[in-house]
Amino acid sequence: MTRIDWKNLGFDAYRTRTVVRSCFRNGEWSAPEATEEFSFTFDPFSQVLHYAISCFEGLKAFRHKDGSVALFRPDRNAARMRMTANYLGMPCPDEDMFIRMCEECVKKNLEFLPPYGYGASMYVRPLLIGIHPQMQLVPYPEALFAVMCAPVGSYYGESMKSCAAVIPGNYDRAAPKGSGRYKIGANYAATFMPYKIAHEQGYTELLYLNSSTREYIDEFGSSNFFAIQGNKYITPLSDSVLPSITNLTLQEVAADLGMDVEKRPVRLEELGSFEEAAGCGTAVVITPLSHVDVKPVLEEPFVGKSFRFFPDGEVGPVSRKLYARITSIQNGEAEDIHGWCHFI
Ligand code: PLP
Ligand code: COI
Repeated sequence: MTRIDWKNLGFDAYRTRTVVRSCFRNGEWSAPEATEEFSFTFDPFSQVLHYAISCFEGLKAFRHKDGSVALFRPDRNAARMRMTANYLGMPCPDEDMFIRMCEECVKKNLEFLPPYGYGASMYVRPLLIGIHPQMQLVPYPEALFAVMCAPVGSYYGESMKSCAAVIPGNYDRAAPKGSGRYKIGANYAATFMPYKIAHEQGYTELLYLNSSTREYIDEFGSSNFFAIQGNKYITPLSDSVLPSITNLTLQEVAADLGMDVEKRPVRLEELGSFEEAAGCGTAVVITPLSHVDVKPVLEEPFVGKSFRFFPDGEVGPVSRKLYARITSIQNGEAEDIHGWCHFI
């Protein structure tokens, strides 16, 4: 095996040794199989290929100082996958099977788990896809559930690096009463082109508004939104955002730190009244914003509004404090008073 440079890991589809998988057919899941074969075989008419019958999860495993290994809140990912699978009309593993297969995947790939102290972790990616060959637009109870993993560092190349975001006037992420709150692959497909344009213009992130009235903040393409105003942790309440486990955790951490937590609709104009604003999620952890530009048409030169938080490179004190607290619980440095670490 090539030696892994733990210090300089990005967030890539790193090929480890083993994938763990199971198929649902004839009303039952097959016994989970750990395989070193990094390919799947299914019918060209499979639902996943034509109708995007696909959903996934993302969670992390951490090596603690004492050598133990823990997944962070896997029960929450199991519950969210179940909610998403219901939306797609798919069979879904129960919590026990979901967690056992995640554990198995980490155990079988232990040599790829970053050691303690490098700010890196193992990203675990459970995937559920519809493999029934089918033309009709109706659910069918046949699926492949697979868990893969990859050693990861920072999503954007450097942790807690502040980034610029853009609100793209001519792109929406999720339809009203649509699929925004579910972790389906198709939600991400809709972000590829606006991300490409935004990146070309020097923005790191896309911040989406509610698509019906475009008055309220929903979330980023990759993560939830939160803001700090005085002693308040504020995060949008919306039917169209993914219920982020990191955001939920940060709300609990903020409350533990004596902050007031407000989960409510957040008007776009309020951006001007926040001292700090950031993205949060498993991949991005906390990504502080330097500024947000509002662009009525993403492709055209900037004619919209700009909300500034910190100059590039600076990060607000509350975001820093929240980051320090959540990562120290994940790494086993701080006491896990809520029981979020699931030891393998
Ligand atoms: N929102 C979107 C669109 C995401 O892709 C993610 C990542 O999973 C999140 C929010 C954050 O969710 P979590 O904290 O559970 O990873
Ligand atoms: C995660 O944070 O787990 C995600 O799935 C986000 C994705 C953009 C990598």
